[in-house]
Amino acid sequence: MQIFKDKVILITGANRGIGQSLVKVLLNNGVGKIYTTCRDLKKMPSFNDDRIVPLELDITDDQQVAWVATVAQDTEILINNAGTVNSGNILEGDLLGMDNDLQVNYFGTIKMMRAFAPILIRNKPSIMINIVSIAAYSPLPSIAGYAASKAALFSATQSVRIELAKKDVSVYAVNPGAIDTDMNKGSDWDMPDPDSTAIQILQGVADGKLDSIPDEMGQGMYNAWREDPAKLSKLFADLYYAENAK
Ligand SMILES: NC(=O)c1ccc[n+]([C@@H]2O[C@H](COP(=O)([O-])OP(=O)(O)OC[C@H]3O[C@@H](n4cnc5c(N)ncnc54)[C@H](OP(=O)(O)O)[C@@H]3O)[C@@H](O)[C@H]2O)c1
Repeated sequence: MQIFKDKVILITGANRGIGQSLVKVLLNNGVGKIYTTCRDLKKMPSFNDDRIVPLELDITDDQQVAWVATVAQDTEILINNAGTVNSGNILEGDLLGMDNDLQVNYFGTIKMMRAFAPILIRNKPSIMINIVSIAAYSPLPSIAGYAASKAALFSATQSVRIELAKKDVSVYAVNPGAIDTDMNKGSDWDMPDPDSTAIQILQGVADGKLDSIPDEMGQGMYNAWREDPAKLSKLFADLYYAENAK
């Protein structure tokens, strides 16, 4: 993964899950510096590496986003990984939870894209990687607000890809299926771990795949959707009714 060698990278939500794993894989691939950002620095792993620069960042906080963009002016690769999920369907789910998913996953990520676009343009050729979700293709109704926020983020990612295409900034969308992180705590699905997922995510970027799905389950879901969107919709409907029958 030569493309990461000596690069300056900023990752949101780097304290746990996929974000933490991305940091570990990048450190093993010769990066120059990583701004590891998270909401509460007390929760940040040490990573034991002097290429790490930890910064406090809640992506919904305009002032913190602006401050981080001032500090991390040398960023060449931005990884928008931070995300949150609230359960609930459209008809009965808590609207505050849905609003929170939109504020973090959609508007928070847009704030980061806006703050860092001028930096990435200045430091071209550069890269933006947005961690989206397979739920962007078709909603699982038990997490309907999350699915809507990720569908919106997927759309925004494709839009920004076009907006930055002539500025030498490549924009990648990564749409995983289910990965074994805190986000899926309590699930009995057989899921890949975040470390192997992080390798697949970064390999996809290194291979130049602007849209990628890093795990087998996600790829199966994507293939069903590609064959016929109704197939993935049916798969998620079956899952939803099975969950509710428990
Ligand atoms: N796990 C999956 O199955 C799966 C599938 C598809 C896509 N994804 C996406 O992958 C990304 C990483 O998820 P994960 O599985 O690693 O989940 P995770 O273990 O729950 O980690 C989520 C990360 O996002 C951070 N975060 C939440 N709200 C934030 C905010 N307002 N500002 C900054 N950081 C915030 C969390 O910080 P705190 O520790 O402070 O809460 C944490 O570091 C997310 O975008 C998620 O939607 C995950």
